[in-house]
Amino acid sequence: MSLLYKALLSYMIFMLLNSTAYAFDSENGEALHDDNCVRCHKHSLYTRKEREVKSYSLLHERVVQCELMSELIWFDDEVNEVTVYLNQSFYHFNQEK
Ligand code: HEC
Repeated sequence: MSLLYKALLSYMIFMLLNSTAYAFDSENGEALHDDNCVRCHKHSLYTRKEREVKSYSLLHERVVQCELMSELIWFDDEVNEVTVYLNQSFYHFNQEK
């Protein structure tokens, strides 16, 4: 089974199972993050004083940049879940901004 096919299949199953749940699951975001994102930097990057990210939309952008740089091929939902996870755990931005 090709990777893409597997990814599509698990996405469809995920959407079916989650069709009644709330929009973005930050627990899944945490798992995605811890599996893929701690290779280059630790959690402390998000809480250091001179951190770069200054708003929710910039955080989202940064997650996309790091995702692409890591050669991950994430769905928008996965990017959103990781952004929500980082925001809830570290950044605490107003999501409207
Ligand atoms: C290939 C290495 C690499 C991987 C893998 C990686 N990042 Fe990064 N990330 C970086 C570098 C380099 C920076 C910039 C660090 C700096 O400014 O000192 C950065 C910065 C960030 C920042 C901004 C931190 C701040 O200053 O507020 C966020 C958020 C972030 N990464 C999220 C992620 C996420 C989410 C993933 C997983 C999809 C990820 N990163 C995977 C290299 C990586």
